[in-house]
Amino acid sequence: MTVPRTTTDFMWSWWKMKTFLSAVELRVFTALAERPLTAEELCDRTGVHSRPAADFYDALVALDLLRRDGDRYATTEETGEFLDEDKRHSYLGDHFRVAMGGFADEMVEMLRTGQSPSGRRGPGEFYEKTYATDDSTRRFHRAMTAMSLASADAIATGFPWDRYRTLADIGCAEGALPVRVLERHPHLSAVGMDLPPAREGFEEYVAAHGLADRLRFQPGDFFQDPMPSADVIVLGHVLHNWDLEDKHTLLKKAHEALAPGGAVVVYETMIDDERQDNAVGLVLSLMMHLALPGGFDYTSGDCRGWLEQHGFRDTYVQHLSGAESMVVGFK
Ligand SMILES: C[S@@+](CC[C@H](N)C(=O)[O-])C[C@H]1O[C@@H](n2cnc3c(N)ncnc32)[C@H](O)[C@@H]1O
Repeated sequence: MTVPRTTTDFMWSWWKMKTFLSAVELRVFTALAERPLTAEELCDRTGVHSRPAADFYDALVALDLLRRDGDRYATTEETGEFLDEDKRHSYLGDHFRVAMGGFADEMVEMLRTGQSPSGRRGPGEFYEKTYATDDSTRRFHRAMTAMSLASADAIATGFPWDRYRTLADIGCAEGALPVRVLERHPHLSAVGMDLPPAREGFEEYVAAHGLADRLRFQPGDFFQDPMPSADVIVLGHVLHNWDLEDKHTLLKKAHEALAPGGAVVVYETMIDDERQDNAVGLVLSLMMHLALPGGFDYTSGDCRGWLEQHGFRDTYVQHLSGAESMVVGFK
């Protein structure tokens, strides 16, 4: 995002974002996935009225979100890849529009009260609501895949997998991380643990990648049930959902479940230790305060300290992709 320099820049930044979010909601980028369209054809597919149509589409061109060639509009390389909702590996639009958009309006209330307005009954309420229907479950898990793939690739290539044989991904959603790791490392087998509603999407995703013989689902509640034992245990975007006590419970259970000599990999948008550079990590932490009572993000230094308290040694932090890093510790 360009940092606004004047009072009006701040105002226009808001309206530019609103225009962009309207295009996501109206599925403009999906409508253009097959071929470039004229304004009239695009209106037929998106339901946009002819009166504002030219200004809306041309504004998207000026915002570098669409291209215009003659009288036809097309996606850019990036918007075609990341905002076409049929590209399930990369599409995040639903997540910021539906799942997170609802909470955003309550940010000021959360900042004033310190309470998560959407989780008054406790942290489990977020997942009860998210998993209320098959459709909302799928949308959430697809968004998790889209958010985690770049880090999954970096972990698949940047961790010494040749030393290990088994992997357990705790809170695995669709299983994007173990799929990416197993695709690159045929000697490994893995298990993904998550709440029972994740099963169907996980099994479909794994089968679509031809890995059903090496990657299985274990339904369970990681607070009630033991974690599956493995040589490497991964916790991706899991700890930030929970308060400090729950974070410690999960790390303790991970240590118990790990084979001797095994490794734990915690990856998230770790906040930088000075808490001044990783704006995404800090903003995501605010989203956690909103969505889950007790949830918050943390620095890589915090994470290393917690791991050491639970007996992990030789901890280190490694940058993955964008705002994300992993912290690794050994048993
Ligand atoms: C923020 S998502 C992260 C998904 C995935 N690891 C990733 O990085 O893309 C957290 C996951 O933890 C799972 N989860 C939440 N509470 C759980 C519980 N009590 N037991 C097991 N899994 C749980 C959720 O279902 C969800 O898939």
